[in-house]
This record gives sequence, C-alpha cells and structure tokens, in this order.
Amino acid sequence: MNDPNGMVFFDGEYHLFYQHNPDDTVHGPMYWGHAVSRDLMHWQHLPVALAPDEHGTIFSGSAVVDWKDTTGFFQGRPGLVAIFTHHRSHPDTKQIEQRQSLAYSADSGRTWTKYAGNPVLTCADEPDFRDPKVFWHHGSGRWIMVLAVRNKVSLYGSDNLKDWSFLSHFSAGSREGVWECPDLFPVRIEGTDEYKWVLEVDINPGAVAGGSGGQYFIGAFDGTEFTAENLEDAPLWLDYGKDHYAGVSWSDVPPEDGRRLWIAWMSNWQYANHTPTHGWRNAMTIPRELTLRPVGDGNYRLVQWPVREVEKIRGAAQTAARKTVTKDTPLQLPGVGQCLDIELQLEWKHVQEVGVRVCKSDAEETLVGYDSDKQELYVDRTHSGLTNFHPQFSGRRSAPLALPKKELSLRILVDHCSVEVFAEDGRLSMTELIFPEEDSGDFEVFVKNGRAQVRNLALHRLQP
Ligand code: FRU
Repeated sequence: MNDPNGMVFFDGEYHLFYQHNPDDTVHGPMYWGHAVSRDLMHWQHLPVALAPDEHGTIFSGSAVVDWKDTTGFFQGRPGLVAIFTHHRSHPDTKQIEQRQSLAYSADSGRTWTKYAGNPVLTCADEPDFRDPKVFWHHGSGRWIMVLAVRNKVSLYGSDNLKDWSFLSHFSAGSREGVWECPDLFPVRIEGTDEYKWVLEVDINPGAVAGGSGGQYFIGAFDGTEFTAENLEDAPLWLDYGKDHYAGVSWSDVPPEDGRRLWIAWMSNWQYANHTPTHGWRNAMTIPRELTLRPVGDGNYRLVQWPVREVEKIRGAAQTAARKTVTKDTPLQLPGVGQCLDIELQLEWKHVQEVGVRVCKSDAEETLVGYDSDKQELYVDRTHSGLTNFHPQFSGRRSAPLALPKKELSLRILVDHCSVEVFAEDGRLSMTELIFPEEDSGDFEVFVKNGRAQVRNLALHRLQP
C-alpha cells in the first residue's frame, strides 16, 4: 500500500481507501483497497473498491458524501462519490496521462460504479496532474477540488462534481520536488472557536528529512483563491521524520464531533519498495487530530496529536515520578514490549542529551532524544534493527526545538515497526519506521553528560 485515499465518514463508519497493488508488495498497477472502522482503532478489511479499467489504473483521490445528490447518482438520497486520478500511458503516443474521474456508491461504499462520463477533468499537456481532494465549500455553495499539478496546486469549482472550471493556482515554499496529494481545510485555533485555512501538500523528493515529506501553509480561502500568511516562514514542515507522507484529512466528520482528523502513509519513496517485510508492505500512521496553535507575533503552527480513541486501547501502565536520571543510573523498564503509548515529562539544569531508548536489547535500540547544545529533537535509528536494506534508511534525523525552560514533554507511540513522536503537545512530530527483532522490548530513559529529572512517566501497553 501507499497513500491513504477517499477518507470519508458516513453512517457511523470511517472509510479508509488506499493505494494498493493486490498482486505484489511493490508499487505497480494501482487499485483502491478499502477498510472501515467505527472507532479509528479497529479496522475491518473490505474487498478492493476500485480496479483499473480502460482509462487506466487508479491513483490517489478523495471521497465525499453527496448529501444533496448534486450528481444525480442517488435518486435524491445521499451517497458516496469518489474522485480519483486515472493514470495510464497513452495507447498510441505512450505519453503519461493523468485524468480525474468519478465512481459512486449507494450502499455505504460496499460496491462502486464508475461514472460513464469519465474522465471529468483532463489536461493534455501536463503529465503531473493528479490526486484530487474535493470538499463542499459552504461559503460559495459548490464543490472545490484541489489538485497537484507539477510543483503547484490548482483549484477547480463545480456544482455537480462532473463539470469543473478552473479557479486559481497556488505555489510557494519548497518547490524542489513534484507536488502530490494536496488537501485544503479549515482548522480550529486552540482555545478559540476561530478557524484558519490550511493548505497541505506533499513533495517528493526534497523534503526536510530527505526524500518524501509534507509542507503546509496557513491562510485564508475565499471560495476561489487560497492566500497564505507569513510566507517568509515557508516551508513549514508537517513532520520531521522520514516516514510521513501523503497525509489527507477525513471528509464529513459530523459537526458535533468537529475534529479535523487525518492519517498519513508511513514510508518514503526512497525505500518504500524495499522495506524488509514479507507478505505485506507499508502501513498508515495512527489517526491524528489537527489544530492550530498561536506561537506569538501573529504566527501559528499546525499541531498534530493522536486521536483520543487511542486511550481506549491502553492496557496496563507502568508509571514513575520525580526520578533522577544520570549516565550511570538510567531509568530502566525491561520487557515492556513494542506496542506502547508513552507519556513523558523531563526537566534538567545541565544535560548534553536526554531521551529514551525504545525497542531496546543488548544489540538494538531506537533513540528519541533532545540535544540541548544543538537545540534539536532527534530520532536515531542507526542501531534500530534491520537497516541495511537501503542506504538512505539508517541514521539520525533532527528537528529544531528551542526549550528555554529546560523542560520537555514527549508522547511516543511505538507499534513494532513504527515510532511516532509528538513533542511539546504536538507542536513537533517525527515519524520513523524501524525493523527491530521481536524481542527487543526494553525501555529506558537516559542522559548523556549531566542529570535530568523524570517529572512524570506513564508507559501504557497498547492492546493489539
Ligand atoms: C504519492 C503518489 C501520488 C499518486 C500515487 C500513485 O505517493 O505518487 O501522487 O497518485 O502515489 O500510487
């Protein structure tokens, strides 16, 4: 699998479609795989939803609830419409063609019909023209599509999802790689009832940690154009790890819930086809909630936090409080396993590095730490287990994080082959894959030179 696609909430179910090659564990002719969940934690596989046809294979896209039957597909009732990219090389010219198409389902996504008028949006001279994300814009009373076009996004508008007219372009920030999988949505500012619009877009290659990754812009959307604020701060990176790509948000989460929820693919095109797994390859992040946090001077940052549903699958916890840690006296919790939700608050006066080792044994460890000289948070997977399957996998990735109070708050989700790090209540996130031995299950809080205090530690085992 690769990108999440068509995420939509309908009739009590979260749908997750995804880029899927059912016949191989490497990227190939793409289909939409399908899974559903009622709580974002327990997922049920459903049969493949969309398969290649005469227009090509099925690349990324989105799904919406057509509440008012604007398409006429549903005899006046609400139904699901998927808007996706048909990808093929032209049978005669062999040129790559990427064209937007529709499919619809009147039975909660169990069966799908491709629209007879496909494709609905084409562009003859642009080979990178893909990944439509569609939403209903109340202000202008129409559908808006945000589409990745080489290293920009284009916005289109429609009354019926079938006929689209061009509205505007947007391009800024990092334009080194190809832009993919954009999303545009309002996000609540923490502690207020106010919203700002966020435009998210993935780039490959050229992201902050190397290879694939995402950037975002904060601003306003007037129904036609997106305008970014404070572009002098660009690029703003979504995640400083190597394995967070193609994140897109759920459509139609009920207003009484009100959250902006999203999920991303946990890999990197540098090595996505080479990770050492058998019979399956690649996975999604834990679903995360997005908010905006004011950071002074009229600036905001996007905050990611694991959805609260994670707390419902917590099992037994081990806790510690007010424990001093030095180089010779780390805080050790042996045999806690590899499926963990860790909450940790640290403080120090003088320390060179402080952090945790997860999935640890005598031979293996993955470090999540803070380097106080460099003022950087880091994840180091150099000795995390299998790393030599690709030259760009091993190593240490870092993110700038000034901590003048010498206090750090960390939340870390570990799930056998992934480590998702959230620092400072989600202000910074780092997502990385690891491939440890199954019995590398020790945990430790460490310092390098100096002493730190574990103010609070709660290490929850997560139920499978
Ligand atoms: C991003 C991407 C998309 C494309 C899909 C193909 O990872 O390249 O742009 O639609 O994957 O699988």
